Amino acid sequence: MAKKIDVVFSDFTPGSALKKIYDMSPKEVIDLVTQSRLRGRGGAGFPTGLKWQLAAETGIRPKYFVCNADEGEPGTFKDKMILEKQAAKVIEGMLIGAYAIDASRGFIYLRGEYKYLLSSLLAKINELRRQNLLGDDICQRKGFCFDLEVRLGAGAYVCGEESALLSSLEGRRGEARNKPPYPAEKGYMGYPTVVNNVETLSFVPHIILNGPRWFHNYGTEKSAGSKLFSVSGDCKKPGIYEFEFGIKIKDLLKEVEAGEDTKAVQIGGASGFCASKDDFNENICFEGIPTGGSIIIFNESRDMFHVLKNFVEFFQQESCGQCTPCREGCSRMLEGLLKFESGKGSSKTIDDLLDLSETMSLASKCGFGQSVPNSFRTIVSKFKDEIIAR
Ligand SMILES: Cc1cc2nc3c(=O)[nH]c(=O)nc-3n(C[C@H](O)[C@H](O)[C@H](O)COP(=O)(O)O)c2cc1C
Ligand code: SF4
Repeated sequence: MAKKIDVVFSDFTPGSALKKIYDMSPKEVIDLVTQSRLRGRGGAGFPTGLKWQLAAETGIRPKYFVCNADEGEPGTFKDKMILEKQAAKVIEGMLIGAYAIDASRGFIYLRGEYKYLLSSLLAKINELRRQNLLGDDICQRKGFCFDLEVRLGAGAYVCGEESALLSSLEGRRGEARNKPPYPAEKGYMGYPTVVNNVETLSFVPHIILNGPRWFHNYGTEKSAGSKLFSVSGDCKKPGIYEFEFGIKIKDLLKEVEAGEDTKAVQIGGASGFCASKDDFNENICFEGIPTGGSIIIFNESRDMFHVLKNFVEFFQQESCGQCTPCREGCSRMLEGLLKFESGKGSSKTIDDLLDLSETMSLASKCGFGQSVPNSFRTIVSKFKDEIIAR
């Protein structure tokens, strides 16, 4: 059965993890985070310790530390709650990362629609400055200086992608950059920059305080620890849940009181995977069905064609338009789907769109276009009859 966990929203004394790392060298801090096997909670699951190590190893200065609070994936709403309830914990995660890589300046890139959080975040930052938990010689540690700014996004989904986020931070169009070089080598203003998700950072102080092995008490070998899930759709108890990685879809559905008539679960938002009843025994984790945290539940009353069309319309509007496979691919995919609404769609239309998906995932410049086909392929393969019936 699902084990409910309470790490992210648990009590925390600001400064407590920081004081502990002052007995450690930056390399020891990175090693500890690496041993914990913490992986990024923003979606891609990149090992956090390795990302920090890459930034720490470059001899170039200055370095920057960025908290990605763009949270644009449809169906996810956990990062805003973390920032509302545990901002000091997230900022301490940034401080620990800054100490590890030797950064002295950072940013919280806040989703434009979360503007209502700005004043409370700024108040928290000022309080931490007064407590000498931000600024110069933090907690009497001579030479350790770190301060941060909050910058607001302007409502573009692609700006959650780390390289587009950095372009936006620099005041330019929010467009993805070619990788490599990765931000850890060449990020904000061309300098080494670590970008981490809000939830990832919220685990860091706990890992420092409790040790890396404690983190292995939860989750699986390849997906250590717990994960926040934003649950919405057809269930009696929508909301934010923390479960261990590896939870089975059916156990999650039981916890949130989804009905027996659940027919599909979209895991990982519009760019994620659609699970049908046959998949409910699968595990949610990096080596199973991965997710940045969005879980949308659909019961028998929902029309999966409509769900798919809604996702593709979203992508078509949000594509930054820089590269052809994504810009044209999203529009052609929508056109193809609209054929079903006018009674002109067929099995051949679906096969053509599946070919197009292949090209998009192989040839798009960034993770946006590469992941558009995820929901298309999974919905079409599992609900083909429903779509053809159109
Ligand atoms: C289109 C797109 C949108 C993304 N949006 C977000 C986002 O809103 N928040 C986030 O943390 N990561 C987002 N990511 C992932 C980031 O590029 C990056 O991997 C992440 O911020 C790294 O932090 P982590 O290692 O702590 O997960 C997005 C990626 C893509 C391709
Ligand atoms: S994949 Fe899409 S979002 Fe990414 S660069 Fe190409 S057009 Fe822009």
